[in-house]
Parts: sequence; structure tokens; C-alpha cells
Amino acid sequence: MVRNIVILTGAGISAESGVPTFRGPDGLWEGHHVEDVATPEAFQRNPVLVQTFYDARRAALRAVEPNAAHLALARLDAEWPGELLIVTQNVDDLHERAGSRRLLHMHGELNRALCTACGAAPDWTGPLIDAPSCPQCGVPSLRPDIVWFGEMPYHMDAIEAAIARADLFVSIGTSGAVYPAAGFVSVARRAGARTLELNLDMSAGTPLFDEARHGPAGLLVPALVAKLLDD
Ligand code: OAD
Repeated sequence: MVRNIVILTGAGISAESGVPTFRGPDGLWEGHHVEDVATPEAFQRNPVLVQTFYDARRAALRAVEPNAAHLALARLDAEWPGELLIVTQNVDDLHERAGSRRLLHMHGELNRALCTACGAAPDWTGPLIDAPSCPQCGVPSLRPDIVWFGEMPYHMDAIEAAIARADLFVSIGTSGAVYPAAGFVSVARRAGARTLELNLDMSAGTPLFDEARHGPAGLLVPALVAKLLDD
């Protein structure tokens, strides 16, 4: 019987909302190589490029809405009587706008800044390119609160503890290319959980799952949630 569920989401769950995924056919993310905008070295080398890039991603959030997959997970969160944790690699805010509460952002959030002087992480919905002051220490040293390549993902202890207790691990819309998230399926299997992948097509991780269902998240996720809540 399923009681404890961990759900990992990636860019594919937001694709039908109009948020571009990272690894498109051209291998570029909004015209950039990921390493030119998503590493601490890129930020040191060209802060204007990186701030402009993330300011545009943050502004673009205002034009998108949660889709059927986000809404279905919010329903599961509201109605599931056992333990549930939604772990997202996404930096958009579509899970919370859909109503999910039992949610952790392991790669940070566009709507949060990080002060490189004092470590404060204030909510931030505006641009950072004009070097605003940190609301806590007053130093103009805010960067996006995004976990870049080479940095440590957030909430790893809580995520690993939840996976250790999970009966069911579901991965939705992620290519399985980026660790440590790509390794969660193996940890879940070792902990005895059933593992299920929902993705548009085969991913690097597909062979690691007990079961894989292929199709758009907007169809597959509401069907899974209805089944879980019916059983
Ligand atoms: P990717 O862009 O690597 O993978 C997205 C996956 O979603 C692909 O396997 C697509 O086939 C699938 N997909 C696309 N549309 C879909 C749909 N409508 N329904 C279901 N699946 C769909 O994105 P992530 O795996 O999330 O890290 O990327 C992981 C991390 O790499 C990101 O969090 C980001 C990036 O570098 C940071 O920014 C730190």
C-alpha cells in the first residue's frame, strides 16, 4: 500500500505552461549555452549578462500560468493523507501558484535573491541588473538565488530523509541529466520504493525506473493523481 510519496519535477512539467525546457533540440537555453549563464564563473566573468538573463526569466514568469499537471499535484498535496514531498528542480513558481505547499526548490527560485555579502535570501520579483541594495545589510551585492553548476543544491538532508521513507517515487518531466537529482531514483529503489517515470519521451534515466509512462505531463499527471486518490 502506498503511504509516503516523493515526487521529483523538472522543466518538462512547466513546458505546457510555456516555460522553455533546458535541453531543447538545439542544446541552447534561450539562446545561451547553460555554462555561460548558470555557473559562478560565468557570473564573475560577465555579471551583466547573467543578471540580464535571469531578470528576463523572472519577468517572463508573469506571463505564464500553472497547467493541469501543477494543478493535479496541488490537489494531491491537499488530499493525500500520508506523507508527500514535491521536490522541484524548477526555479519558476508554478507549483506554489497552483497551491502546492509540501514543496522544496532544490535549485533555488527566480523570485528570491541571495546576498553575497551577508547571505540573506529576500523575496525578489523585480530586476537585479540595477544593483539594488540588500534589504538586510544594505550592500548592493544581490545575485539570483539559483543553484548554479558547481554549487550545492538546497534541502538535500530533508529530501534524502523523505526518499528513505517513500513507498512511491515519481519523476516528472526531467531528462535525468543533472545530479544529484538524477540519482534519486536509485536511492528510492534501494529504500524499497516503487519508482515511476512520467516524461514526454525516453530520458537518460528511463531504464532505472520500475515503470515509465510517456506523454505530456498535462495528461499523465492528472491521471496518476486521480488513480492515487481513488485507490
Ligand atoms: P531538461 O530540459 O533537461 O529536461 C526536460 C525533460 O522534460 C525532457 O526529458 C523532455 O523530454 C521532457 N518534457 C518536455 N516537455 C514535456 C511535457 N509536456 N511533459 C512531460 N515531459 C516533457 O530539464 P531538467 O531535467 O529539469 O538546473 O533539467 C535539470 C536541471 O538542468 C535544471 O534544474 C537546471 C538545468 O541546468 C539549474 O538551473 C541548476
